Amino acid sequence: MNSPFRAIQVSDHVWWVGAIDWDLADFHGYSTPRGSTYNAFLIDAETVTLIDTVKTEYVDELMARISSFIHPERIDLVVSNHSEPDHTSGLAEVIRLTNPKRVVASKAGVKALAAHYSLPVEVEAVGEGQTIDLGGGLDLVFHETRMAHWPDSMMCTLGAERVLFSNDIFGLHLAGGERFDGAVDPAVLLQEATAYYANIFWPVSPAVAGVLKKIDALPRPPAVIAPDHGPVWRDSPGTILDLYRGWVEGKTVNKAVVVYDTMWGSTAKLAHAAAEGLIAGGMGVKLLPLSKSPRSEIAAELLEASALLVGTSNLNGRMLPRLADVLTYLGGLKPKSRPMKGAVFGSHGWADKASRQVREWLEAMQVELVADPLSVNYVPDREALNAARKLGKQVAQEASVARSR
Ligand code: FEO
Repeated sequence: MNSPFRAIQVSDHVWWVGAIDWDLADFHGYSTPRGSTYNAFLIDAETVTLIDTVKTEYVDELMARISSFIHPERIDLVVSNHSEPDHTSGLAEVIRLTNPKRVVASKAGVKALAAHYSLPVEVEAVGEGQTIDLGGGLDLVFHETRMAHWPDSMMCTLGAERVLFSNDIFGLHLAGGERFDGAVDPAVLLQEATAYYANIFWPVSPAVAGVLKKIDALPRPPAVIAPDHGPVWRDSPGTILDLYRGWVEGKTVNKAVVVYDTMWGSTAKLAHAAAEGLIAGGMGVKLLPLSKSPRSEIAAELLEASALLVGTSNLNGRMLPRLADVLTYLGGLKPKSRPMKGAVFGSHGWADKASRQVREWLEAMQVELVADPLSVNYVPDREALNAARKLGKQVAQEASVARSR
């Protein structure tokens, strides 16, 4: 029986030979309800080249796609642009099955691969601007992209066809048969690209800015951006470049994110009242109760937001545990230099310690609180709800002033 796995042509000499992970739901804490792909690309040149590999469990799919086009032992060169295991846990097996003449990675990639695996070959280091002549007028040029997002991260370009193999950057988590951006619903592309940037690249935005500068310095802009996850940007590569430009510059919109957890509904009432105040102040609101909001959705909503309001009940002298989880996560993602207004609110019984803890966490994230925490004993009365509305309105007004500067 013929294999269902086929190579898909990307450009004259480039073929997609990756794997589709329909079932991926969680990527080290990042919820991925639409699954993902692990992209690998074959360059059909005199020096047949494989760009990146896949997770161990997808090696059979990768090899089947390669075999649909050429005999795998014709592969001469394997490039590892990034050593994270979703792209390299299958590398040793791929090397054994293809027996390439050379395997290359960045200098930091050579070290990282050695720290992860016992590979059956020596991996050669390639550096910034180094070129490998693939024959027939096709050159592969390497560009270091250190800390975008690991120290080993690297891209390469196939100059003649203006294909940029970007590794994780410009990717998104989306399983499916649509291999190119133009085949995917633009709203889904935007949602998943935003989530991907917020959850992977936001903390390394300065390094991403450096990558964009390198792309701008290429002799000609890429015609195809081929990342390691999700669709290949072939129909409109400028779309993803423009989105990244906005994100590295800290683009904001007139929106507040209200995140809260509640024991018996009192903090929820305050959250709703604060949202009413934000709206009255002319601000868009995303209300995210932790009972149904994954931490990575909160990060995605926060990426372009101008304000973050956080509410919690007290439990045993602490904030509720789901909030601690989310604040730990967001604290690692939000760059401290990114301005953001904020507020804290919540309910307590006999003592309030949680609002002070939340305040400290937000201040450590350089969220500028517009007022002291609003802490309510047990159930908020009319006066307390009005105070929450007033707090929301104050956040909206101060965020508006900050945005107009
Ligand atoms: Fe897709 Fe950083 O791995």
